[in-house]
Amino acid sequence: MFSKELGVDLGTMYTRIADSTQVLLEEPTIVAIEVDDQKMVAAGLEARDMFGKVPDSIEVARPLRNGVIADYEITETLLQYLLQRVSGSMRIFRPRVMISVPFGVTSVERRAVYEAVMEAGSREAFLIQQPLAAAIGIDLPINSPSGNMIISLGGGCTEAAVMAMYGIVAADTLRVGGMDLDEAIVNYVRRKYGVVIGQLTAEQLKTRIGAAVPQDIENSMEVQGQDQVTGLPRPVMLTTGEIVEALQDPLKQIVESGRKVLEKTPPELVSDIIDRGVALCGGGALLRGVDKLLTKSLGIPAYLVDNPLTCVVQGTIRGFGMLNMIRRNLPQV
Ligand SMILES: Nc1ncnc2c1ncn2[C@@H]1O[C@H](COP(=O)(O)OP(=O)(O)OP(=O)(O)O)[C@@H](O)[C@H]1O
Ligand SMILES: [Mg+2]
Repeated sequence: MFSKELGVDLGTMYTRIADSTQVLLEEPTIVAIEVDDQKMVAAGLEARDMFGKVPDSIEVARPLRNGVIADYEITETLLQYLLQRVSGSMRIFRPRVMISVPFGVTSVERRAVYEAVMEAGSREAFLIQQPLAAAIGIDLPINSPSGNMIISLGGGCTEAAVMAMYGIVAADTLRVGGMDLDEAIVNYVRRKYGVVIGQLTAEQLKTRIGAAVPQDIENSMEVQGQDQVTGLPRPVMLTTGEIVEALQDPLKQIVESGRKVLEKTPPELVSDIIDRGVALCGGGALLRGVDKLLTKSLGIPAYLVDNPLTCVVQGTIRGFGMLNMIRRNLPQV
């Protein structure tokens, strides 16, 4: 009687929860805990604001790394807190949960996600591969025997997959994502200017003036860093062209991952994909020109979907309605 269904996208950077009507919550996957007794001090946005601003007695941590759980206890605490926030008392409203996991995770990693969701108070839990959830969330016709391709560019990992008949035909999980793009910018600025900038600053450079390919209109942005030699504050001015250059290495790996999947895909399905294009989702798909880069290097038109950030969580909740069709293809624990 009190059953409720929830979809969860447990991402490296953001966790999103939806019910059958809407996305209920989006919070950074970050927890602040007291080092002594491991008690949670804050979670989500509130915890992110504490980054680098708290005494040693409090640790601010990201419990996921590259799409998978790195700290089990903290992940469980966070899930419990977030699920409780959307569904009230979990003792009365024990929800059935469908949660996404990257395609390329090990059985141990899958088990950890399953246990964390169950321990958080769910009545029943299903895992769904992230690319499959994304495809459902963007309404790709995966019910047909024709090929559909997605590349999901997340914060911690990139997943390329071809799907048909509710299942995954070929896929690749690359443990390179938006955070690695930020890291590449940090390294670039250190090498070129001898200035150390923070990760958050690098992310701002990426999202505000960055691009995957050279742009007609160059933007620039001044950021504050720390001189590597003197340790004193020093501003640096960066341009779009420089960010493009800084990102080439990780972007090349992302292109390679897409290419690998196409190579593994049967030719009949490839011709469907050429007709339909490659759907790009995940926060990284918002990087300017990433569609152009992939179109050019894969030789297949790549396009940004309408709901790049929420398609996975929307797909997880819709998965309940398709359980009969997809169940045999879902990862077992
Ligand atoms: N406009 C933008 N340009 C480039 N990157 C962006 C933009 N907006 C967001 N991002 C990046 O998208 C990433 C977050 O995407 P998303 O929310 O899909 O990740 P996630 O689901 O938490 O991670 P994962 O799926 O890998 O576990 C961050 O690295 C962020 O910097
Ligand atoms: Mg994601």
